[in-house]
Amino acid sequence: MGGGEAMSATLYGLGVGPGDPELITLKAERILRRVPVIAYPATETGLSLARTIAAPHIGLGIVEIPIRIPIYAASFPDGALYDEAARTIETHLGAGRDVAVLCEGDPFFYGSFMYIFARLSERHRIEVVPGISSLTACAAALGAPLAARNDVLAVLPATLPAEVLLARLESCDAAAVIKVGRHLEKVRAVLAELGLVDRARYIERATMANQQAMPLAEVGVDAAPYFSMILVHRRGEAWR
Ligand SMILES: C[S@@+](CC[C@H](N)C(=O)[O-])C[C@H]1O[C@@H](n2cnc3c(N)ncnc32)[C@H](O)[C@@H]1O
Repeated sequence: MGGGEAMSATLYGLGVGPGDPELITLKAERILRRVPVIAYPATETGLSLARTIAAPHIGLGIVEIPIRIPIYAASFPDGALYDEAARTIETHLGAGRDVAVLCEGDPFFYGSFMYIFARLSERHRIEVVPGISSLTACAAALGAPLAARNDVLAVLPATLPAEVLLARLESCDAAAVIKVGRHLEKVRAVLAELGLVDRARYIERATMANQQAMPLAEVGVDAAPYFSMILVHRRGEAWR
């Protein structure tokens, strides 16, 4: 840091893993035990999966900054919301207090931490601590490798229009469809059009106590929770 900067607080983007409290890294746990301030994404009612995962390691008296994010906001991400969160975090950093932003899975794998990072990275020291992402956690829980040999793996947000999903699925060997939620039927229809429903596996809340996993064809509901994913291999089980 330059001579004019008296404080040397660090902002951590802290991956806390996909849900199982044992899937948090030793490094994340160590940092969590010593920072005086944490921030985390939460629902409008204050529920936070990232905080729940990290809970066993959060000390008494720690300052908490919930960043309340509407999951299905009309315009996402909400710039004003992250501006405000960044300002609050910056107040602590400016006073010399380290801040850890808890991130479900890995901070830089589709993580909302990127919006805080974008606002503060030029003025503050930031350390991103990778976490076990849902991508690898879902593959492990489903007992199916993500991709084999020269396979091209695509990560597809289910929020994409059906025609885009179809084109992307046609041009890859394996895919992970994330953010399934209320888009379940759209994704299932696209996979059916490509004859891939029988090659797709569904999983929700991977590695958590209430994990559910099954072949996509057996999913009996038309909407899934937000924390769900579909893994599919176009060529079948290519690793066999
Ligand atoms: C905004 S992305 C964040 C991903 C996260 N940063 C990570 O590294 O896994 C949220 C999506 O990740 C997937 N996801 C995250 N955790 C999951 C879990 N435990 N089980 C299944 N899917 C999960 C879901 O598809 C969800 O809609």
